[in-house]
Amino acid sequence: MTTTETPSIFAPVSTPAFAIRDLSFFVLTITAVIFILVAGFAVYTLIRFGRRPAAPDIEPAQVYGSTQIELAWTVVPLLIVVVLFLVTARYVYRIERRAQPPDALEITVVGNQWWWEIRYPKFGIVTANELHVPVSEAARPTLTFITLQSVDVAHSFWVPQLSGKMDVIPNKTNRVWIEPQRVGTYVGQCAEYCGLQHALMLLKVVVHPRDEFLAWVASQQTAPALHEATRPGRELFSSLACINCHSVRGTPGNGVFGPDLTHVMSRSTLGAGAVRNTPENLRAWVKDPAAFKAGALMPAMKLDDAQLDQLVGYLATLR
Ligand code: CUA
Repeated sequence: MTTTETPSIFAPVSTPAFAIRDLSFFVLTITAVIFILVAGFAVYTLIRFGRRPAAPDIEPAQVYGSTQIELAWTVVPLLIVVVLFLVTARYVYRIERRAQPPDALEITVVGNQWWWEIRYPKFGIVTANELHVPVSEAARPTLTFITLQSVDVAHSFWVPQLSGKMDVIPNKTNRVWIEPQRVGTYVGQCAEYCGLQHALMLLKVVVHPRDEFLAWVASQQTAPALHEATRPGRELFSSLACINCHSVRGTPGNGVFGPDLTHVMSRSTLGAGAVRNTPENLRAWVKDPAAFKAGALMPAMKLDDAQLDQLVGYLATLR
């Protein structure tokens, strides 16, 4: 049902992104006309006034200054720049002024080196790297307002098909809003250089039909089921340094430096898009995250094979 599309500003599916595409076409049209005129005159001049071998070698007429031409090439570009500025300002104003309706979904996205924490304060959900939102229908418009924060350095939130870029700055709260009008999976990327693994700070937005979104919320709100078979792995998890950085609801683990693992297996990738999330990759990740993502702040856990099997056996049940 969901398809992942090429992240292009020319394939918008959400209200602010429609405006950005329209503005881009407007600017591209004006600059294309300027390019064609300038390049056309240049080519015409080359052909028309190029030196011909047969022509007598006489100097052409020399022109020193022309008030009319100088005024024209000053005033016309000035007017074009003013038009571009005013139109852009109008779009920016219209997008940023949008008031939050009372029934809007609120999400907080926190930039970390190098992953995204995603919180749904009203639902008590904490997850990572994958944003789930409801689709907005004509009969029931649904806006999602996203609060952006950073715990370390400057990042930038950008899902081209849904909204414009917005910087994620430490000690400052920024906001974006989206109104996706088509169900699907849309990819985004940190758009501000933030250190070694800036390129592996991917983001995915899954737009669900409304009832499917509510089902996702309900599944994320439940605590993971306890299986007797995975008890040794659970106890190992609680006894290791894992719990200093990671949370799993219902365990002593309540760390916040790393992603919440309560439903880790419901996510499609590990390390913010570094590798597909399968039990085999999860095992290799726990063994040595740097194998997939050099510089990842999670250390290699230095576990032996039996411990790895137990631990991953437990983590793989966190659906
Ligand atoms: Cu975070 Cu680039």
